[in-house]
Amino acid sequence: MINQNNIRRILVTSALPYANGPIHIGHLLEYIQTDIWVRFQKMRGHECYYICADDAHGTPIMLRAEQDKISPEQLVEQIWQEHRADFTDFLIDFDNYHSTHSPENRYYSELIYQHLSERGHISRRTIKQAYDPERKMFLPDRFIKGECPFCSALDQYGDSCEACGATYSPADLKNPHSMLSGATPVTRESLHFFFKLSNFETMLKDWIVSGPVQPQMANKLKEWFNSGLKEWDISRDDPYWGFEIPNAPGKYFYVWLDAPIGYMASFQNYCNRTGICFDDFWQPDSKAELYHFIGKDIAYFHILFWPAELTGAGFRKPTAVNCHGHLTVDGQKMSKSRGTLIKARTYLQHLQPEYLRYYFATKLDDGIDDIDLNFKDFMQRINSDLVGKLVNIASRLTGFITRYFDSHLSDNLAEQELYTVFVDAGDSIAQAYEQREFGRAMREIMVLADRANYYIEEKKPWLLVKQAAAENELKAVCSTGLNLFRVLTIYLKPVLPHLAIKIEEFMQIPPLHWSDIRNPLLNHTISEFKPLMQRVEQTHITAILSDVGKLK
Ligand code: 2FM
Ligand code: ZN
Repeated sequence: MINQNNIRRILVTSALPYANGPIHIGHLLEYIQTDIWVRFQKMRGHECYYICADDAHGTPIMLRAEQDKISPEQLVEQIWQEHRADFTDFLIDFDNYHSTHSPENRYYSELIYQHLSERGHISRRTIKQAYDPERKMFLPDRFIKGECPFCSALDQYGDSCEACGATYSPADLKNPHSMLSGATPVTRESLHFFFKLSNFETMLKDWIVSGPVQPQMANKLKEWFNSGLKEWDISRDDPYWGFEIPNAPGKYFYVWLDAPIGYMASFQNYCNRTGICFDDFWQPDSKAELYHFIGKDIAYFHILFWPAELTGAGFRKPTAVNCHGHLTVDGQKMSKSRGTLIKARTYLQHLQPEYLRYYFATKLDDGIDDIDLNFKDFMQRINSDLVGKLVNIASRLTGFITRYFDSHLSDNLAEQELYTVFVDAGDSIAQAYEQREFGRAMREIMVLADRANYYIEEKKPWLLVKQAAAENELKAVCSTGLNLFRVLTIYLKPVLPHLAIKIEEFMQIPPLHWSDIRNPLLNHTISEFKPLMQRVEQTHITAILSDVGKLK
């Protein structure tokens, strides 16, 4: 039971999506994972805030705005609206959703940079880079193409070859050309600013033993330490879409400098709205917990640069950085160019968000392995678990209560022991949620759902109804079954919040909290049963796949 003394203060973030494209179901794996965890913490009575924002700066956003013939500000605003709508419709319940192109983010980016500079963590030197003489801009590696210096494959990016897998620098490419103008890049010099990551090596090594990352990521970190911590280039030259570096005209913060600072900026924006104290969460001696949920591909930024920047600038470090694997669909990596990218909106046009939330929950654990969305398995899982096992409990029992007992539940349980088994299972399920072992939580909940169905089979209310002498038993059996259903609803509420609301309405009860498992619903009037969830049909899946172009 939660009391005043063990209420935790928890700040949680998901990675900030770039403001240059739509949310797809690969992104959603992370937002759903984080949202489930946050909803669970809130249901347990903790003070927990879920913060996010659009990642609004950088070259690709600048170029996309140019291509769309709108200003970057307009693009950022338009995408922000689209992202918001997608997240809302997937029931991702952010406490605040902001943008890195915001006054709060400019403030914290400048502050952190200033602190790092004053404390000797920034160096400056001139470097040579590829420059597009026609577009008059420096070219990021991804904007240069040419022939692979190793296997001569044509049309390869400036950093690696898709044909032979070699990695190299853009200067090694044969016949290089700018993807923006086609011009041959020239080499130019320019002054850049660097963050001296190696100043933090000892701190990072100490931090890592306090358990802030998963074992797989700790191993990765050791590899990075062994290959040496290099200085990180945090500046970019004009033209660039971002914040200009104070006292350095024509130099901008690299997008990856101000992106994680966006976590702080969004929280500051939230604090301004609500009166919550920012410093309580970000001071070095903060007792609050800070968690970042991210994909494993951006771990370098979050478990090296970010804790180092925070420490160097006089802020606290994250309690943990929780990495997850990537999503594959039917065993394939999703790809925009192959037309296999399933947008959040495409999915929503055909299926309910909670199906995907539940399916991801069944597959998620605390590891970093990739997760496969297999549509056949998806359909079977939803139809068997949610429709066949869960919702079925209520639909089998409610009719008797409505028809014969004026919608009124009995004032005692027929099977107290069984109810206690359900309540006692709560500790293990809660522990699984806490440890991000959602798959285990779902399995344990479904074992209980099987038991509830077995109880109904055993008691056979459809036979009790035919025996006049069994009237009280019928009422108590149905009331017990519905109470088991209510406990299952509580356990699933972090994953299925919308279904839980429908059930709360149907049971005529206030929003359910975790601790409500201990108090069964007795001597209480419920309303009529309404269908809670439809089966997934093959036609829905076919429609999604044909929308993304997989089925022609
Ligand atoms: O990789 C990405 O999509 C980045 N936009 C994530 C940024 S997370 C944080 F650092 F802001
Ligand atoms: Zn090659």
